[in-house]
Amino acid sequence: MYATILVCVYLVTKVLLGKRKAGGGGADMGGGGQQTEPGSSGGRNGVLYTWEEVQKHCHKMDKWLVINRKVYNITEWAKRHPGGMRVISHYAGEDATDAFHAFHPEPEFVRKFLKPLLIGELAPSEPNLDRQKNVMQDFRALREQVEKADLFRSDPLFFCLYLGHILLLEALSLFLLWNWGTGWTQTLLCAVILTTAQSQAGWLQHDFGHLSVFKKSRWNHLVHKFVIGHLKGASANWWNHRHFQHHAKPNIFSKDPDVNMLHALVLGKTQPVEYGIKKLKYLPYNHQHQYFFLIGPPLLIPVYFSIQIMHTMFSRRDWVDLAWALSYYLRYFYCYVPYYGFLGSIALVTFVRFMESHWFVWVTQMNHIPMDIDHEKHQDWLTMQLVATCNIEQSFFNDWFSGHLNFQIEHHLFPTMPRHNYWRAAPMVRAVCEKHGIPYQVKSLWRGFADIVSSLKESGDLWLDAYLHK
Ligand SMILES: *[C@@H]1O[C@H](CO)[C@@H](O)[C@H](O)[C@H]1NC(C)=O
Ligand SMILES: [Zn+2]
Repeated sequence: MYATILVCVYLVTKVLLGKRKAGGGGADMGGGGQQTEPGSSGGRNGVLYTWEEVQKHCHKMDKWLVINRKVYNITEWAKRHPGGMRVISHYAGEDATDAFHAFHPEPEFVRKFLKPLLIGELAPSEPNLDRQKNVMQDFRALREQVEKADLFRSDPLFFCLYLGHILLLEALSLFLLWNWGTGWTQTLLCAVILTTAQSQAGWLQHDFGHLSVFKKSRWNHLVHKFVIGHLKGASANWWNHRHFQHHAKPNIFSKDPDVNMLHALVLGKTQPVEYGIKKLKYLPYNHQHQYFFLIGPPLLIPVYFSIQIMHTMFSRRDWVDLAWALSYYLRYFYCYVPYYGFLGSIALVTFVRFMESHWFVWVTQMNHIPMDIDHEKHQDWLTMQLVATCNIEQSFFNDWFSGHLNFQIEHHLFPTMPRHNYWRAAPMVRAVCEKHGIPYQVKSLWRGFADIVSSLKESGDLWLDAYLHK
């Protein structure tokens, strides 16, 4: 059955990517002509605004933003934004040009939604960019450079082999039980294989979620639902809403959900001092680098899975995502109940989530926790991403183990880039960072893990100092 699915997926991918190749010329021209999009010329009724005016519109009931010098009123639209209301609202009152291009691989398609929201444009005397002019200009030139180098084109073979190795692992674990029975050794081995398959499916759903595989968003969304829903039992929409906010404003409190630790941990250098001065002590934060081992790696994934199923069922009532997730559990129980019974199968899947959680937490936190974590500072796209993100050395194992998120910097600058091209973009990114004196950090995998713990200790110490003495 898996082989059939795999062959089908491969054929569909090939056909779709073939179209992408053929349409490449036209799409490139659309992408290159950023100055003229969206809309043709002049704002509606020729209304002109200054940055000062735009920046005032950053409130709940009044939101404007700027894309390529055009001013849009997104107050009403935000609620219908397919990527989620929060992510677009994080840019209210700001220049969203770079974020817009980072998340939308099909600007021509998105343009028709933008047109009715246009209310004017920047006055000719206003600078192109609201802040950090030189850095932003160079970043936009970098984006054109990687587009020209064709680094946004994905390789169907890569993603097919990747999906194939996940399906093979899933099949292998069943074959093992079928052939050698359900002794402890076989069960443990089976759990390790399933954990690997789940972790790798986690990295693969991330590729489709970022629309980085197919040219058409629709196909990315569909396969995303298959991978995260049917292969993992989770919800695509829940993940999208969370993850896009993280990308739009990484490591920024109240905007990036990934740094909201619900008072269990304090992060960075600002938050611990704020908590300390306010005498907040929900937990003894000076020990957080120790209790992190109890509440972080073992629990995060099981907690995520519980929250998102509840959220999808009761709050969003997202029946499509729920059906996909249900298809995972039906398949899982259909395959494993004959070997372990119902309760045994629940125990096995819980144990697999527990192991997957360790893998997930260390890999996803190593790129962000040791970096700057602070309140909104309204930095330009390149600076904002670089102060919040670091890379891990390249190697075949590291690429596989982290799902290429060892190139987290490139991923954050260009989220729609297929991951097998990050290593090609890296030297170009590094050159721009060097030119502007922006630190571009690369460390070993072990250093990455150790830095999570040491930065937690550092934040905990800052908290204790402020708590006792300020
Ligand atoms: C922006 O949209 C809101 C809500 O639709 C509306 O109340 C407001 O008048 C609009 N502002 C402008 C300048 O069009
Ligand atoms: Zn991502």
